[in-house]
Amino acid sequence: MKKLLICNHKMFLTYDEAIILKNKMNDINFDDINLVVCPSYLNFDVFKDYTLGAQNCFYEDKGAYTGEISCYDLNLRKIKYSIVGHSDRRKYETNEEINLKVKSLLKNSMTPILCIGETKMDKELRRTSEVLKKQLYSALDGVVLDKSQELVIAYEPVWAIGTGNNLSKEQIEDTLMYLRKLLDLKEIHNYKLLYGGSVNKSNINFILNDIVDGYLLGNASINDDELKYITKCIK
Ligand code: PGA
Repeated sequence: MKKLLICNHKMFLTYDEAIILKNKMNDINFDDINLVVCPSYLNFDVFKDYTLGAQNCFYEDKGAYTGEISCYDLNLRKIKYSIVGHSDRRKYETNEEINLKVKSLLKNSMTPILCIGETKMDKELRRTSEVLKKQLYSALDGVVLDKSQELVIAYEPVWAIGTGNNLSKEQIEDTLMYLRKLLDLKEIHNYKLLYGGSVNKSNINFILNDIVDGYLLGNASINDDELKYITKCIK
């Protein structure tokens, strides 16, 4: 099965910088992977040749919600994915809000890219399993997928994001196996499980394994060299 590669540009690129990156990406062959680019809202048009994802969304369809962008509206603009629960945003939102976003995305024919992950402190206190279970189950509370719907779950240890730190391959495997069990218990079968957090060309070969359906890239996604190398490795 083709690997799924999510590129989260965060707030890294201005419009002009996005155009430069896109021009360089034209030389990369993405044929054998499923690529989803999540640029800033202002840069969607630059990457319109690719499948697009939003970095965030709002659960109400319309209304007086200054600064928000609804799943309803994103879907009308043919944006098919949205990240939800990324650790950059989790500090500003509750598990209930994340759950509402997941439900709104599904209702609007979009695929949630649900990010979960433990902090450094969670890890030190050995409560990773408990934290992941809580994040996963609260986000999926009341969610029942029909055959046409899919979830993307990205396991990203918070302490690995943007830091260069990484789990060992065995630790990634154990955690992903644990998550698959949790999803099984919830009778959720139509999903892809990704790994993210400082994935780059120096560690991709080491992380790469069959248990991962793909990767969520941050920093590496705005560097064409990194992107080219990673794409080649995961084909
Ligand atoms: P990183 O970011 O690859 O720069 O660690 C990952 C992410 O933001 O999800």
